[in-house]
Amino acid sequence: MANPSLLILAGDGIGPEVMNEVKRIIGWFGDKRDLNFDVSEDLVGGAAYDAHGVPLHDDTMAKAQEVDAVLLGAVGGPKYDNLDFSVKPERGLLRLRKEMDLFANLRPAQCFDALADFSSLKKDIVAGLDIMIVRELTSGVYFGEPRGIHMEDNMRVGINTQRYTEAEIERVARAAFDLARKRGNKVCSMEKANVMESGILWRDVVTEVHQADYADVELSHLYADNGAMQLVRAPKQFDVILTDNLFGDILSDCAAMLTGSLGMLPSASLGLPMANGRPKAMYEPVHGSAPDITGQAKANPIACILSFAMALRYSFDQGAEADRLEAAIEKVLADGARTADLMGPEDGTPLSTTQMGDVILAALDASV
Ligand code: IPM
Ligand code: MG
Repeated sequence: MANPSLLILAGDGIGPEVMNEVKRIIGWFGDKRDLNFDVSEDLVGGAAYDAHGVPLHDDTMAKAQEVDAVLLGAVGGPKYDNLDFSVKPERGLLRLRKEMDLFANLRPAQCFDALADFSSLKKDIVAGLDIMIVRELTSGVYFGEPRGIHMEDNMRVGINTQRYTEAEIERVARAAFDLARKRGNKVCSMEKANVMESGILWRDVVTEVHQADYADVELSHLYADNGAMQLVRAPKQFDVILTDNLFGDILSDCAAMLTGSLGMLPSASLGLPMANGRPKAMYEPVHGSAPDITGQAKANPIACILSFAMALRYSFDQGAEADRLEAAIEKVLADGARTADLMGPEDGTPLSTTQMGDVILAALDASV
């Protein structure tokens, strides 16, 4: 059988820096575990704009549709702030999500024991935290029409549309319930049914899917503002959080800080099964391009490496090897390995991006 294929789109800012460490990890699994991938690389975001004048070339889009999984670094940066909206780096990422139809965005927020002290919340509130946010990723206000800025009565008006069909809500709800069954068997769905019709529909459809096929899973509903509050008040009450595209964007950044650093959070974006049975998939760290630390070897590669662990688990059916990689990361953190984002100003010298990669590779070596 041919090796599974990976397309690496490292993108902008710290994207290429953290992705370099992922490439070494991929190499390790080839050398030591006989898990080989056919890896190709291409441009996305500002890097693609610089080369082609668009944030995602059509050829790159076509490649992304063909491979078994895409690994993405980060897009964007101040250099591109004044570009026309249609060619901004983020448009490249949104095009990938939309055209690959990656409707289920899995964002796990896990607090590693070694980092519980580092969260901005009290240790006992976050220690042992393990929640999974399932964010709808291909619809809602990110993509709804009409949209734009136009003139009305001599005044500019900005418009975006929050729009969800039943089918869109149903498929992401199923993804959340299926995942919950493999975890704590609880789903909390978040919307704003008190002020939005799309929220009323969301709540109705989630309830219908639950009654029809997932009555064994515990389901609750919260308004998203209350959900945000509960997430910082008592995050361990949650198992799977199901929410829409915009609320999911906000709630997942909030959840990230429970774990100590945005540099720790991976994500998987999954679509429908392809002909080979694997889901359409893209894996990316939740953090952005971090222009403030770009080029300084300071970036934490763990979120990107954990995203590759999610690829092993969700695309390649290599749960045991994903566990091995996650355990290696847990081990180096327990041993005190820290990049700058995981340290206070008085805590000594942080590891560089590559040094963090080194210690993770050493922990992997020790695991076989
Ligand atoms: C995310 C990011 C993206 C989003 C940006 C970069 C377009 O914030 O993945 O959370 O808003 O979805
Ligand atoms: Mg975001």
